[in-house]
Amino acid sequence: MISLNVNGKEYKADVAEDASLLWVLRDHLKLTGTKFGCGIGECGSCTVHVDGKAERSCGMTVVK
Ligand code: FES
Repeated sequence: MISLNVNGKEYKADVAEDASLLWVLRDHLKLTGTKFGCGIGECGSCTVHVDGKAERSCGMTVVK
């Protein structure tokens, strides 16, 4: 079980630590505002802020 703070709200998800941040946001937390585009870090449609820095969530694991 992992815990995430997204936009000031605490969430828990029963996922592996190496799960994709994008798919944890979309599929587990139902935060579908984060979009899937290319899946290879090129298009930017999955961009989220992580600790104040813009990151491509498709290329990140949910736990750094
Ligand atoms: S889906 Fe295109 S950069 Fe992540």
